[in-house]
Amino acid sequence: MRDTDVVIIGAGAAGLMCAALAGQRGRRVLLVDHANKAGKKILMSGGGNCNFTNLYTEPANFLSQNPHFCKSALARYTQWDFIALVNKHQIPHHEKKLGQLFCDNKSIDILRMLLAECEAVGVKPMLETSVDRIEKTDAGYRLETSAGPMRCQSLVIATGGLSIPTMGATGFGYQVARQFGHNLLPTRAGLVPFTITDQLKDLCNELSGTSVDCLVSCNGKSFRENILFTHRGLSGPAILQISSYWLPGQAVEINLLPDLDVPAWLAQQRNDRPNAELRTLLAELFTKKMATLIAEQWFVSKPIKQYTHAELEQIAQRLSAWQVVPAGTEGYRTAEVTLGGVDTKEVSSKTMESLKSPGLYFIGEVLDVTGHLGGFNFQWAWASAHAAAQYV
Ligand code: FDA
Repeated sequence: MRDTDVVIIGAGAAGLMCAALAGQRGRRVLLVDHANKAGKKILMSGGGNCNFTNLYTEPANFLSQNPHFCKSALARYTQWDFIALVNKHQIPHHEKKLGQLFCDNKSIDILRMLLAECEAVGVKPMLETSVDRIEKTDAGYRLETSAGPMRCQSLVIATGGLSIPTMGATGFGYQVARQFGHNLLPTRAGLVPFTITDQLKDLCNELSGTSVDCLVSCNGKSFRENILFTHRGLSGPAILQISSYWLPGQAVEINLLPDLDVPAWLAQQRNDRPNAELRTLLAELFTKKMATLIAEQWFVSKPIKQYTHAELEQIAQRLSAWQVVPAGTEGYRTAEVTLGGVDTKEVSSKTMESLKSPGLYFIGEVLDVTGHLGGFNFQWAWASAHAAAQYV
């Protein structure tokens, strides 16, 4: 029987951080993970360069049924705290855009930093260790694991969400939450590309690889960034962002020319260059291929003087408020995050401790707190881990 103060299940971003910080408080920690490596998602994050935080992190960057929940933890462990840690380990990094901090080298710099912090307090992740059973005892929790039984005062669930099952994601954290009487909010894939199956599919296919700066809106939320046409539909940062707000069946509105007053521009072109064909005019705004395809497939290209005012209005409408109804998303196979999860109304925002079962803690993505794209999800992992680590 291994007897310890704290068992943390999940050696991902949140679990590693919590283990290091709890160890710094002198707590004896066991960190277990069923995968053969710790922090696999850290390694694949940010296209291999780990977008580890965001300079402009604030509660408004997070989705949750309980939007106030994340505030306290984010305020007590900020992006500046994590940057200080990164600087202490002399990890070279840069701001790519919009406050997003990336490693200059590889994501492994961040993983090595967390493992070094763990090692400094005597924590080495127990890998390829599965947890078969958890029981509440008078003094805490008893676990049956593939490495034998364990007993602890505090049990931390840091098993993340459902995205990328091939990287070790499971619904284990939700199962534990259910076992101890927690409410679960429906889960769905977030920060995920859209699939398109209607007549738009051909356009997406033909434009595959083309990226356009757009304003994308759905359910009252808008993001200004690139969209990317793909063989299967639409992706790119603006699409990933809006996917977290989209519900099946809904339309997404895409303004393909967010900096242009399109009706005024069309009127001016009609006046100045009446014989210019629509596709020639659009080629000044988009790539030639995209201009030709949309001029022909959407509008039938002809000299601009030949369009009626009503037709010009329709063209303007289509370009600045293109309505797209995705067939669905690529799902957990490629999603960066899982929306929903453990209902935060039953968890202390100060300590991350369960309000249903004392000594049980939930941190990171398993909770119903999901960040926007841009380093916010890792900042939540660090901040929630820090909050729990002060109390476990
Ligand atoms: P995380 O998923 O990191 O860790 C969970 C751990 O629990 C894993 O090690 C897993 O093996 C283990 N586990 C699961 N089930 C278990 C079980 N039954 N028993 C034992 N162990 C179990 N975010 C960001 O801010 N910037 C970025 O650049 C990116 N990039 C990015 C790219 C890709 C491709 C993905 C999929 C995701 C991102 N993210 C991101 C999101 C970010 O990776 C994610 O939000 C955090 O890793 C969540 O941290 P957690 O520790 O909660 O879960």
